Amino acid sequence: MLIFNKKSDLSAFLSPLINQNKSIGFVPTMGALHEGHLSLLEKSLAENDITVMSIFVNPTQFNNAEDLEKYPRTLEKDVEKMKVVSDNIIVYVPSVSDIYEDKTVSESFDYDGLENQMEGQHRPGHFDGVGTIVKRLFEIIKPNIAYFGEKDFQQLQIVKKLVSKHKIPVHIIGCPIFREESGLAMSSRNERLSPNARKKAAIIFEILNQAKEVFQQKSIKETIKFVEKSFKKHPEFELEYFEIADEETLLSAQTKGSNKKYRGFIAIFIEKIRLIDNISLN
Ligand code: PAJ
Repeated sequence: MLIFNKKSDLSAFLSPLINQNKSIGFVPTMGALHEGHLSLLEKSLAENDITVMSIFVNPTQFNNAEDLEKYPRTLEKDVEKMKVVSDNIIVYVPSVSDIYEDKTVSESFDYDGLENQMEGQHRPGHFDGVGTIVKRLFEIIKPNIAYFGEKDFQQLQIVKKLVSKHKIPVHIIGCPIFREESGLAMSSRNERLSPNARKKAAIIFEILNQAKEVFQQKSIKETIKFVEKSFKKHPEFELEYFEIADEETLLSAQTKGSNKKYRGFIAIFIEKIRLIDNISLN
């Protein structure tokens, strides 16, 4: 396992490999690794000659200072977890200045409206921060394939839009959501929940699954009402949004159209920790 802290050293290492036409797979993360992250890593290792994983808590994508400050940083444990998967991983752990030099600010991006929905609405500036870091990492690493989780489905669609609009030659692969045994979607933020809240949070996926059944029989409006009512019975949760949207445009849907794929998207607080999840509805 090789760990690089500087983009210049990483590029110098990768550039002869790129010249030899080795395929480079890339998995960007913010660390505090769990099995969801490791599932992306395994896919990249299976499909590429070289796999790079980055660990960088990107300040420009946090719209909440406390969330940034409390974001778990567990580099030693992360390296141990990666070693269990394979010794053949290139790890990039930059400092803020290696990425941003003296200006820790986002560029602004136009993702044809994808940025105005859901997470974009509730976390102003978030997707400018994501676009900025992902584009810079692609420029440094020059991967052939990059792996993103459907856990952050809107982010996945936004990254696809970013590479198509900026003509970045990388293939983006979306990977299924990895869940805890209880059904709770794995997330670095789960570590901040008390054991009791973590147990209770299993209800999120239960209600999403029930919503999927309701959606087969009833209208979009009724499905949304069902979810809102279900969480009212669990006052320890504060529902920020539940939306049903077209998978491609992410536009909130009011009525069902034929030949369209819909997904339910949720953001919810428990113990002031914000969790997100989503489910394919048809
Ligand atoms: P992070 O939250 O660390 O997630 C890194 C990658 O792992 C993302 O593609 C995310 O969708 C995926 N992932 C997280 N939880 C998952 C799960 N339970 N199952 C499957 N995949 C999962 O997303 C980010 O970091 C950042 O925004 C980043 C893209 C690194 C840019 O800073």
